Amino acid sequence: MLDIISFNPFRVKIPFLLDIIIISDSEQIKKIETSGDVDRLHTYDTASLPWWARTYFRATKFHDRERDLWFCPFESTSNPTYQQRRAYLEEKVATSYSEADVKRIAELLNKNAEDEVLAYEMVQIVNQRFFGKEIPLPITKAAKNTVQSLGEGILPWKYIAGRKAQNQVMNYCAKNLPDNVHILDIGHNIGEVVQTTTGALKTLKNNLDKSVEEIFTSNPLTPEAPRIAVKKSNFDGLLSSPTVPGKTVVIFKIGKAAIETKDINFTFSTGSSERVCVFKDFFLEFMKDLQQELRQTKSQS
Ligand code: HEM
Repeated sequence: MLDIISFNPFRVKIPFLLDIIIISDSEQIKKIETSGDVDRLHTYDTASLPWWARTYFRATKFHDRERDLWFCPFESTSNPTYQQRRAYLEEKVATSYSEADVKRIAELLNKNAEDEVLAYEMVQIVNQRFFGKEIPLPITKAAKNTVQSLGEGILPWKYIAGRKAQNQVMNYCAKNLPDNVHILDIGHNIGEVVQTTTGALKTLKNNLDKSVEEIFTSNPLTPEAPRIAVKKSNFDGLLSSPTVPGKTVVIFKIGKAAIETKDINFTFSTGSSERVCVFKDFFLEFMKDLQQELRQTKSQS
């Protein structure tokens, strides 16, 4: 019988169809990430990626099939566009936020505003800087619908809605961003704020007594990060049969690792500051200021 499923680590390997390895242990994640045996998915041309990955990611906020663009963390560090794209985002994010922004979100949370309203306001705070103008409500609404997990991706209606939403957000970005800006790097951020940050605001409100780092390691925001094998390897004896370069996809369960280690670098990366999320410091500072504001308004009421 074919060895299709194995455990420790969990692997599903169906020859010529799919080969996925799931790594949840925090130390194994760090070791494999820095081993040189894996790299970012778009190390390989889109057309040569495993069929399921190509199909899945085009319904998410991470890939634009029409223009063949991938979000920055999917590019190898050796990609010639990578450094400049990261630098642009860093520079833009460094312009930060205002006290009025914090107060506005605190007010909405205190009024129990609907998710849609919170998402719209938060998108303006994070993403207006890229467009120099308001991002319209239909776009922040559409950004909610890109597919967020493989489980969602196999539901045909979710998949179709995801493709449609991604097209809508990308077309808006293509029309409204300055030339030379990577439109997917920006479009992704609208989706990330709508899908992740809005929920995070409520988690914060329900945990005013805990530190922000504690809250967002116990309630991590990104469950997983994918990589692809670039060398034949058995990960130092961890696997019974080696990976296949360009075919084996490794899923790092960074959310579980964040809970296990309480290390905020697993909420925003794979456990180190290397290639950490550009938005991490903004997010943590904003959440700390917001927590302060919510505590104050609570004690006054
Ligand atoms: C709370 C919301 C967010 C969370 C939880 C989050 C989380 C993450 C995680 C886990 C990674 C690492 C991915 C990997 O290693 O494959 C990452 C990378 C990245 N994030 Fe975020 N992110 C958020 C919002 C944002 C926003 C709003 C921006 C831009 C304004 C952004 C820009 C980036 C960039 C550019 C990278 C790639 C960094 C690199 O590879 O050098 N993120 N993010």
